[in-house]
Amino acid sequence: MEHILDMYEKGEPFYLYTGRGPSSDALHLGHLVPFQFTQWLQRVFNVPLVIQLTDDEKFYWKRYLTLEEAGRLGFENAKDIIACGFDVSKTFIFKDTDYIQHLYPTVTKIARTVTCNKACGTFGFSDSDHIGKYGFPAIQAAPSFSSCFPQIFGGREDVQCLIPCAIDQDPYFRMTRDIAPTLGWKKPALIHSRFFPALQGPKTKMSASSNESAIFVTDTPEQIAHKIKAYAFSGGQETKELHEKLGGDCDKDVSYQYLSFFLHDDAELERIRVEYSSGRMTTSQIKQELINVLVPMVLEFQQSRARVTDDMVKAFMAVREITPY
Ligand code: TRP
Repeated sequence: MEHILDMYEKGEPFYLYTGRGPSSDALHLGHLVPFQFTQWLQRVFNVPLVIQLTDDEKFYWKRYLTLEEAGRLGFENAKDIIACGFDVSKTFIFKDTDYIQHLYPTVTKIARTVTCNKACGTFGFSDSDHIGKYGFPAIQAAPSFSSCFPQIFGGREDVQCLIPCAIDQDPYFRMTRDIAPTLGWKKPALIHSRFFPALQGPKTKMSASSNESAIFVTDTPEQIAHKIKAYAFSGGQETKELHEKLGGDCDKDVSYQYLSFFLHDDAELERIRVEYSSGRMTTSQIKQELINVLVPMVLEFQQSRARVTDDMVKAFMAVREITPY
Protein backbone atom coordinates (compact mmCIF):
# COMPACT_ATOMS: atom_id res chain seq x y z
CA MET A 1 0.00 0.00 0.00
CA GLU A 2 2.86 2.35 0.86
CA HIS A 3 4.42 1.56 -2.49
CA ILE A 4 1.13 2.35 -4.24
CA LEU A 5 0.85 5.70 -2.44
CA ASP A 6 4.42 6.63 -3.37
CA MET A 7 3.72 5.72 -6.99
CA TYR A 8 0.48 7.67 -6.96
CA GLU A 9 2.28 10.77 -5.71
CA LYS A 10 4.68 10.46 -8.62
CA GLY A 11 1.72 10.29 -11.00
CA GLU A 12 2.18 6.63 -11.89
CA PRO A 13 -0.98 4.67 -12.67
CA PHE A 14 -2.58 1.82 -10.78
CA TYR A 15 -5.91 0.00 -10.90
CA LEU A 16 -8.25 -1.73 -8.46
CA TYR A 17 -9.42 -5.33 -8.67
CA THR A 18 -12.07 -7.02 -6.53
CA GLY A 19 -14.75 -9.66 -7.01
CA ARG A 20 -17.78 -11.60 -5.89
CA GLY A 21 -18.64 -15.29 -5.95
CA PRO A 22 -22.34 -15.35 -6.89
CA SER A 23 -23.95 -17.99 -4.68
CA SER A 24 -26.89 -16.16 -3.11
CA ASP A 25 -29.48 -13.61 -4.16
CA ALA A 26 -29.34 -11.02 -1.41
CA LEU A 27 -26.11 -9.64 -0.04
CA HIS A 28 -25.70 -9.17 3.70
CA LEU A 29 -23.88 -6.32 5.41
CA GLY A 30 -20.62 -8.28 5.55
CA HIS A 31 -20.56 -8.46 1.76
CA LEU A 32 -21.07 -4.73 1.52
CA VAL A 33 -17.96 -3.77 3.48
CA PRO A 34 -15.26 -4.50 0.84
CA PHE A 35 -17.41 -2.97 -1.91
CA GLN A 36 -18.09 0.24 0.01
CA PHE A 37 -14.39 0.48 0.72
CA THR A 38 -13.52 -0.17 -2.92
CA GLN A 39 -15.96 2.54 -3.98
CA TRP A 40 -14.24 4.95 -1.60
CA LEU A 41 -10.84 4.04 -3.05
CA GLN A 42 -12.11 4.58 -6.60
CA ARG A 43 -13.58 7.95 -5.69
CA VAL A 44 -10.48 9.16 -3.86
CA PHE A 45 -7.90 7.96 -6.41
CA ASN A 46 -10.08 8.16 -9.54
CA VAL A 47 -8.62 4.94 -10.96
CA PRO A 48 -10.05 2.12 -13.08
CA LEU A 49 -11.66 -0.82 -11.30
CA VAL A 50 -12.30 -4.35 -12.54
CA ILE A 51 -14.79 -6.62 -10.74
CA GLN A 52 -14.75 -10.38 -11.31
CA LEU A 53 -17.98 -12.39 -10.97
CA THR A 54 -16.87 -15.98 -10.46
CA ASP A 55 -19.83 -18.03 -11.71
CA ASP A 56 -17.35 -20.84 -12.48
CA GLU A 57 -16.01 -20.87 -8.91
CA LYS A 58 -19.43 -21.20 -7.33
CA PHE A 59 -20.41 -23.91 -9.83
CA TYR A 60 -17.27 -25.84 -8.89
CA TRP A 61 -17.72 -25.42 -5.14
CA LYS A 62 -21.49 -25.65 -4.65
CA ARG A 63 -22.84 -29.03 -5.69
CA TYR A 64 -26.46 -27.85 -5.79
CA LEU A 65 -25.80 -24.85 -8.04
CA THR A 66 -26.11 -25.00 -11.83
CA LEU A 67 -23.79 -22.89 -13.95
CA GLU A 68 -26.77 -21.04 -15.39
CA GLU A 69 -28.10 -20.19 -11.94
CA ALA A 70 -24.66 -18.97 -10.84
CA GLY A 71 -24.63 -16.71 -13.90
CA ARG A 72 -28.07 -15.34 -13.10
CA LEU A 73 -27.05 -14.68 -9.50
CA GLY A 74 -23.93 -12.92 -10.79
CA PHE A 75 -26.07 -10.55 -12.86
CA GLU A 76 -28.33 -9.83 -9.85
CA ASN A 77 -25.35 -9.36 -7.51
CA ALA A 78 -23.90 -6.90 -10.03
CA LYS A 79 -26.91 -4.67 -9.30
CA ASP A 80 -26.09 -4.62 -5.59
CA ILE A 81 -22.47 -3.90 -6.41
CA ILE A 82 -23.40 -1.05 -8.77
CA ALA A 83 -25.71 0.36 -6.07
CA CYS A 84 -22.57 1.00 -3.97
CA GLY A 85 -21.94 3.94 -6.30
CA PHE A 86 -19.23 2.88 -8.75
CA ASP A 87 -18.35 5.14 -11.66
CA VAL A 88 -19.45 3.44 -14.92
CA SER A 89 -16.86 5.37 -16.91
CA LYS A 90 -14.07 3.70 -14.91
CA THR A 91 -15.55 0.34 -13.85
CA PHE A 92 -15.63 -2.93 -15.75
CA ILE A 93 -17.64 -5.85 -14.32
CA PHE A 94 -17.14 -9.24 -15.94
CA LYS A 95 -18.45 -12.76 -15.52
CA ASP A 96 -15.77 -15.44 -15.87
CA THR A 97 -17.60 -17.67 -18.37
CA ASP A 98 -18.24 -14.61 -20.62
CA TYR A 99 -14.83 -13.00 -20.41
CA ILE A 100 -12.63 -16.11 -20.25
CA GLN A 101 -11.14 -15.66 -23.72
CA HIS A 102 -9.51 -12.43 -22.60
CA LEU A 103 -8.28 -13.94 -19.33
CA TYR A 104 -7.05 -17.17 -20.86
CA PRO A 105 -3.59 -16.16 -22.14
CA THR A 106 -2.75 -14.84 -18.65
CA VAL A 107 -4.40 -17.88 -16.98
CA THR A 108 -2.23 -20.33 -18.96
CA LYS A 109 0.97 -18.55 -17.92
CA ILE A 110 -0.05 -18.64 -14.27
CA ALA A 111 -1.29 -22.25 -14.39
CA ARG A 112 2.06 -23.48 -15.68
CA THR A 113 3.90 -22.04 -12.68
CA VAL A 114 1.71 -23.64 -9.94
CA THR A 115 2.21 -27.32 -9.11
CA CYS A 116 -0.48 -29.59 -7.63
CA ASN A 117 1.67 -29.87 -4.56
CA LYS A 118 1.58 -26.12 -4.12
CA ALA A 119 -2.17 -25.88 -4.79
CA CYS A 120 -2.88 -28.62 -2.23
CA GLY A 121 -0.77 -26.84 0.37
CA THR A 122 -2.34 -23.44 -0.27
CA PHE A 123 -6.00 -24.41 -0.74
CA GLY A 124 -6.26 -27.76 1.03
CA PHE A 125 -7.18 -29.70 -2.14
CA SER A 126 -6.85 -33.47 -2.07
CA ASP A 127 -6.77 -36.35 -4.57
CA SER A 128 -10.52 -36.68 -4.49
CA ASP A 129 -11.23 -33.07 -5.47
CA HIS A 130 -12.21 -32.59 -9.11
CA ILE A 131 -9.82 -30.85 -11.47
CA GLY A 132 -12.07 -27.80 -11.83
CA LYS A 133 -10.98 -26.73 -8.35
CA TYR A 134 -7.32 -27.14 -9.23
CA GLY A 135 -7.71 -24.90 -12.25
CA PHE A 136 -9.68 -22.14 -10.60
CA PRO A 137 -6.97 -20.30 -8.60
CA ALA A 138 -5.24 -19.26 -11.82
CA ILE A 139 -8.53 -17.71 -12.95
CA GLN A 140 -8.92 -15.65 -9.78
CA ALA A 141 -5.24 -14.67 -9.95
CA ALA A 142 -5.29 -13.52 -13.60
CA PRO A 143 -7.12 -10.16 -13.22
CA SER A 144 -4.31 -9.05 -10.89
CA PHE A 145 -2.34 -8.46 -14.09
CA SER A 146 -3.15 -5.68 -16.52
CA SER A 147 -2.54 -8.03 -19.50
CA CYS A 148 -6.14 -9.25 -19.00
CA PHE A 149 -7.60 -5.86 -19.91
CA PRO A 150 -6.15 -4.60 -23.20
CA GLN A 151 -9.27 -2.46 -23.75
CA ILE A 152 -8.32 -0.51 -20.62
CA PHE A 153 -4.54 -0.62 -20.52
CA GLY A 154 -3.80 -0.82 -24.24
CA GLY A 155 -1.76 -4.02 -23.91
CA ARG A 156 0.46 -2.79 -21.06
CA GLU A 157 1.35 -5.71 -18.82
CA ASP A 158 2.94 -3.77 -16.00
CA VAL A 159 0.23 -1.56 -14.52
CA GLN A 160 0.25 -1.96 -10.74
CA CYS A 161 -2.84 -3.57 -9.19
CA LEU A 162 -4.37 -3.00 -5.74
CA ILE A 163 -6.84 -5.60 -4.43
CA PRO A 164 -9.23 -4.61 -1.64
CA CYS A 165 -10.87 -7.77 -0.30
CA ALA A 166 -11.92 -9.74 2.74
CA ILE A 167 -9.21 -11.69 4.55
CA ASP A 168 -10.58 -15.09 3.42
CA GLN A 169 -9.33 -14.40 -0.12
CA ASP A 170 -5.73 -14.25 1.01
CA PRO A 171 -4.64 -17.75 -0.17
CA TYR A 172 -5.43 -16.80 -3.78
CA PHE A 173 -3.36 -13.68 -3.63
CA ARG A 174 -0.49 -15.12 -1.65
CA MET A 175 -0.17 -17.57 -4.52
CA THR A 176 -0.48 -14.68 -7.00
CA ARG A 177 2.23 -12.63 -5.29
CA ASP A 178 4.47 -15.72 -5.18
CA ILE A 179 4.34 -16.37 -8.90
CA ALA A 180 4.32 -12.76 -10.19
CA PRO A 181 8.13 -12.25 -10.20
CA THR A 182 8.64 -15.61 -11.94
CA LEU A 183 6.53 -14.31 -14.82
CA GLY A 184 8.18 -10.89 -14.82
CA TRP A 185 5.03 -9.15 -13.57
CA LYS A 186 4.39 -6.78 -10.67
CA LYS A 187 3.03 -8.30 -7.48
CA PRO A 188 -0.48 -7.03 -6.74
CA ALA A 189 -0.82 -5.04 -3.50
CA LEU A 190 -3.49 -6.21 -1.07
CA ILE A 191 -5.58 -4.38 1.48
CA HIS A 192 -7.81 -6.57 3.65
CA SER A 193 -10.99 -5.67 5.42
CA ARG A 194 -11.27 -6.95 8.99
CA PHE A 195 -13.39 -10.00 9.70
CA PHE A 196 -17.08 -9.08 9.84
CA PRO A 197 -18.77 -11.19 12.55
CA ALA A 198 -22.28 -12.67 12.57
CA LEU A 199 -24.82 -11.22 14.98
CA GLN A 200 -24.13 -14.16 17.32
CA GLY A 201 -20.71 -12.97 18.40
CA PRO A 202 -17.18 -11.85 17.54
CA LYS A 203 -15.96 -15.31 16.52
CA THR A 204 -18.97 -16.35 14.45
CA LYS A 205 -19.30 -16.05 10.67
CA MET A 206 -22.19 -14.42 8.85
CA SER A 207 -23.93 -16.79 6.53
CA ALA A 208 -26.11 -15.76 3.61
CA SER A 209 -28.25 -18.84 4.26
CA SER A 210 -29.02 -18.09 7.90
CA ASN A 211 -31.58 -15.34 8.33
CA GLU A 212 -30.83 -14.94 12.04
CA SER A 213 -27.08 -14.58 11.66
CA ALA A 214 -27.08 -11.72 9.19
CA ILE A 215 -28.66 -8.40 8.32
CA PHE A 216 -29.47 -8.34 4.62
CA VAL A 217 -29.39 -5.30 2.37
CA THR A 218 -33.05 -6.08 1.61
CA ASP A 219 -34.20 -5.98 5.25
CA THR A 220 -36.77 -3.38 6.34
CA PRO A 221 -36.02 -0.91 9.16
CA GLU A 222 -38.27 -3.03 11.44
CA GLN A 223 -36.40 -6.23 10.59
CA ILE A 224 -33.05 -4.53 11.17
CA ALA A 225 -34.14 -3.17 14.56
CA HIS A 226 -35.61 -6.55 15.53
CA LYS A 227 -32.49 -8.53 14.55
CA ILE A 228 -30.21 -6.19 16.47
CA LYS A 229 -32.39 -6.18 19.57
CA ALA A 230 -33.03 -9.94 19.54
CA TYR A 231 -29.73 -11.38 18.28
CA ALA A 232 -26.82 -8.94 18.41
CA PHE A 233 -24.42 -10.50 20.90
CA SER A 234 -23.90 -8.17 23.84
CA GLY A 235 -20.66 -7.42 25.63
CA GLY A 236 -22.71 -5.98 28.49
CA GLN A 237 -22.83 -7.39 32.02
CA GLU A 238 -25.49 -9.72 33.47
CA THR A 239 -27.23 -7.13 35.65
CA LYS A 240 -27.64 -3.37 35.59
CA GLU A 241 -25.60 -3.05 38.80
CA LEU A 242 -22.72 -5.14 37.44
CA HIS A 243 -22.83 -3.24 34.14
CA GLU A 244 -22.56 0.11 35.92
CA LYS A 245 -19.68 -1.26 37.96
CA LEU A 246 -17.66 -3.19 35.34
CA GLY A 247 -18.80 -1.63 32.06
CA GLY A 248 -19.41 -3.27 28.66
CA ASP A 249 -16.76 -5.19 26.70
CA CYS A 250 -16.36 -3.60 23.25
CA ASP A 251 -14.16 -6.46 22.01
CA LYS A 252 -17.10 -8.84 22.42
CA ASP A 253 -20.01 -6.52 21.68
CA VAL A 254 -21.33 -7.03 18.15
CA SER A 255 -23.15 -3.68 18.10
CA TYR A 256 -19.88 -1.90 18.82
CA GLN A 257 -18.07 -4.01 16.23
CA TYR A 258 -20.64 -3.11 13.57
CA LEU A 259 -20.46 0.56 14.54
CA SER A 260 -16.70 0.41 14.01
CA PHE A 261 -17.39 -0.56 10.37
CA PHE A 262 -20.29 1.73 9.52
CA LEU A 263 -20.08 4.80 11.76
CA HIS A 264 -17.83 7.16 9.83
CA ASP A 265 -17.40 9.74 12.58
CA ASP A 266 -14.37 8.48 14.56
CA ALA A 267 -14.88 10.97 17.39
CA GLU A 268 -18.45 9.77 17.85
CA LEU A 269 -17.30 6.14 17.77
CA GLU A 270 -14.74 6.91 20.46
CA ARG A 271 -17.40 8.63 22.57
CA ILE A 272 -19.59 5.51 22.34
CA ARG A 273 -16.64 3.28 23.24
CA VAL A 274 -15.81 5.31 26.33
CA GLU A 275 -19.45 5.56 27.45
CA TYR A 276 -20.16 1.87 26.93
CA SER A 277 -16.99 0.48 28.44
CA SER A 278 -17.41 2.72 31.49
CA GLY A 279 -20.91 1.31 32.00
CA ARG A 280 -22.67 4.65 31.56
CA MET A 281 -24.17 3.48 28.27
CA THR A 282 -26.41 0.40 28.46
CA THR A 283 -26.70 -2.50 26.03
CA SER A 284 -30.05 -1.30 24.76
CA GLN A 285 -28.58 2.18 24.20
CA ILE A 286 -25.61 0.93 22.17
CA LYS A 287 -27.98 -1.23 20.14
CA GLN A 288 -30.04 1.89 19.44
CA GLU A 289 -26.90 3.74 18.33
CA LEU A 290 -26.30 0.95 15.82
CA ILE A 291 -29.90 0.98 14.60
CA ASN A 292 -29.60 4.75 14.09
CA VAL A 293 -26.56 4.23 11.84
CA LEU A 294 -27.70 1.14 9.93
CA VAL A 295 -31.28 2.06 9.08
CA PRO A 296 -30.47 5.22 7.06
CA MET A 297 -27.49 3.50 5.42
CA VAL A 298 -29.56 0.49 4.30
CA LEU A 299 -32.46 2.71 3.16
CA GLU A 300 -30.08 4.80 1.08
CA PHE A 301 -28.61 1.62 -0.39
CA GLN A 302 -32.09 0.32 -1.25
CA GLN A 303 -33.01 3.57 -3.01
CA SER A 304 -29.83 3.38 -5.01
CA ARG A 305 -30.43 -0.33 -5.79
CA ALA A 306 -33.96 0.42 -7.01
CA ARG A 307 -32.51 2.78 -9.63
CA VAL A 308 -30.20 0.11 -11.13
CA THR A 309 -31.68 -1.28 -14.36
CA ASP A 310 -30.66 -4.28 -16.49
CA ASP A 311 -29.34 -1.83 -19.07
CA MET A 312 -27.05 -0.25 -16.49
CA VAL A 313 -25.64 -3.68 -15.63
CA LYS A 314 -25.05 -4.29 -19.33
CA ALA A 315 -23.25 -0.95 -19.59
CA PHE A 316 -20.90 -1.88 -16.73
CA MET A 317 -20.34 -5.33 -18.27
CA ALA A 318 -19.75 -4.27 -21.88
CA VAL A 319 -16.25 -5.07 -23.12
CA ARG A 320 -15.30 -1.53 -24.07
CA GLU A 321 -12.50 0.95 -24.07
CA ILE A 322 -11.99 2.71 -20.78
CA THR A 323 -9.70 5.68 -20.48
CA PRO A 324 -7.64 4.74 -17.46
CA TYR A 325 -6.26 8.08 -16.27
N1 TRP B 1 -13.59 -15.80 -4.55
C1 TRP B 1 -14.36 -14.63 -4.24
C2 TRP B 1 -15.66 -15.04 -3.51
O1 TRP B 1 -15.96 -16.19 -3.35
C3 TRP B 1 -14.69 -13.82 -5.48
C4 TRP B 1 -13.52 -13.07 -6.03
C5 TRP B 1 -12.95 -13.24 -7.26
C6 TRP B 1 -12.78 -12.01 -5.40
N2 TRP B 1 -11.92 -12.39 -7.45
C7 TRP B 1 -11.79 -11.61 -6.32
C8 TRP B 1 -12.89 -11.38 -4.15
C9 TRP B 1 -10.89 -10.57 -6.01
C10 TRP B 1 -12.00 -10.35 -3.85
C11 TRP B 1 -10.99 -9.96 -4.76
O2 TRP B 1 -16.42 -14.18 -3.10
